Amino acid sequence: MIPYRPEIFTDFAQEAHKVALTNALEEVRQALGKSYPLLLEGIPVMQEQTFSSINPSQKDEVIGHVSKATAEQARRAVDHAHEMFPAWAYTSVYDRAAVLFRAAAKMRRRKHEFSSWLMLEAGKTAAEADADTAEAIDFMEYYGRQMIALSETANAKLTPLPGELSELQYLPLGTAVVIPPWNFALAITVGMTTAALVAGNTVVLKPASATPVVAYHFAKLLEEAGLPKGVLQYVPGSGSEIGDVLVDHPHTRLISFTGSKDVGLRIFAKASVLQPGQKWLKRFIGELGGKDAIVVDQDADLEEAAVAIVGSAFSFSGQKCSACSRAIVHEAVYDEVLERCVALTEAFTVGHVEDIKVNTGPVIDEAAHQKILTYIDIGKQEGRLVAGGRKGSDAGYYIEPTIFADVDAKARIMQEEIFGPVLAFSKASSFDEALAIANDTDYGLTGAVFTRNGLHAKKARDVFHVGNLYINRKCTGAIVGAHPFGGFNLSGTDSKAGGPDYLLQFTQPKLISEKL
Ligand code: SER
Repeated sequence: MIPYRPEIFTDFAQEAHKVALTNALEEVRQALGKSYPLLLEGIPVMQEQTFSSINPSQKDEVIGHVSKATAEQARRAVDHAHEMFPAWAYTSVYDRAAVLFRAAAKMRRRKHEFSSWLMLEAGKTAAEADADTAEAIDFMEYYGRQMIALSETANAKLTPLPGELSELQYLPLGTAVVIPPWNFALAITVGMTTAALVAGNTVVLKPASATPVVAYHFAKLLEEAGLPKGVLQYVPGSGSEIGDVLVDHPHTRLISFTGSKDVGLRIFAKASVLQPGQKWLKRFIGELGGKDAIVVDQDADLEEAAVAIVGSAFSFSGQKCSACSRAIVHEAVYDEVLERCVALTEAFTVGHVEDIKVNTGPVIDEAAHQKILTYIDIGKQEGRLVAGGRKGSDAGYYIEPTIFADVDAKARIMQEEIFGPVLAFSKASSFDEALAIANDTDYGLTGAVFTRNGLHAKKARDVFHVGNLYINRKCTGAIVGAHPFGGFNLSGTDSKAGGPDYLLQFTQPKLISEKL
């Protein structure tokens, strides 16, 4: 098999690529406002009750009307997944992986179409949408190969004993409830779903309520790629109406969740309660957020550091769990780095994502918009506003990239996840103090250090307590296979998505030993 290689991002400076995306956007635009069914028990089910997915760049544009599953339908989805499980579990690893490879090939051919949905439904710029689609393809190519390798190399991990033939099998667990986020509405949805599937689990997918349409197109793509109907069920709906039903169901075996800390903790707690008829400990895989820092040492390349800080803080309007929300800078270079970041931020344009000149689009919805503006008000009490600080045009959910300077390490905007374009600057009197401030949060997802001092880089490697530590580069943009992704502490279970150990969490190893 050809070894896995990450997708190359599209170069939109080339006219042909630009035209291809424009054409795809035009086609997707023709399809706006349609109604979407649930995919339940192997068939599409159109509901009377729907909710609207809207374009955050232009609030009055409806992306689609999406059927809303009831609690009873959520229950039936888990029951059906449970019934479908044995047949899928006994499907060979090669056949399961082949579904992922076919889906990856189909998505690659239609990549601009998927990116167009992401631009319109999630408010991503062309480049951010393209990276999201590329990552989705990567996950399928990577997990397909990983599952084959896991199964083919299992026995070689055992110590042979004379007179015995032993075998190690990585079996699936059962029904997986998959609850992905809206911020990588394709990549993370695809990664979480196909990891569960390729390991042999059946899946009930509850897509993020802000981005259900792109998730629907992915579910259909899997069907076209040969996934038997009913192995994946697509059940959009309100978290408060169906979330607990999916988590509590005694046939649910595994919950894979990416989203906020509060929702994750609630699911974790609920999953630990044994329900009548339940025969197992439910497994919880959770990626829950971050308060990520970039530390700048006094001898660092300050221009590179500033570019990385601004890019990590404000691309996709800061709506990445990996985004830099704290810049912790040595006092000797603090003023210079701050000044450069302010200049870069002022040149960072916000607007409708179909305008190719903008650097970032809107935030996802009204609730996020309100929450971020509230944090900006808090920031005005806690620091010195040096860039942004206002909302943009009311046509969409726009917010200016915002920087607060001179913020105390314990301030709320240094401690709480804002999930928006708000960056706090804090001054440190030494490199050690900078690392101490960086570690002083409940989270531990990503972090970056800019230094030319080898001892300081070593110190950061040893003590900067994050799942993904980057040295002399930005703290966003993990590549599947190269940067297994996941965080420490309240950032979650450190699942390391896109890494060699990720699939183990979707399996239960069985040892068979035969006396000869
Ligand atoms: N994997 C993404 C990144 O590294 C965040 O989910 O930016």
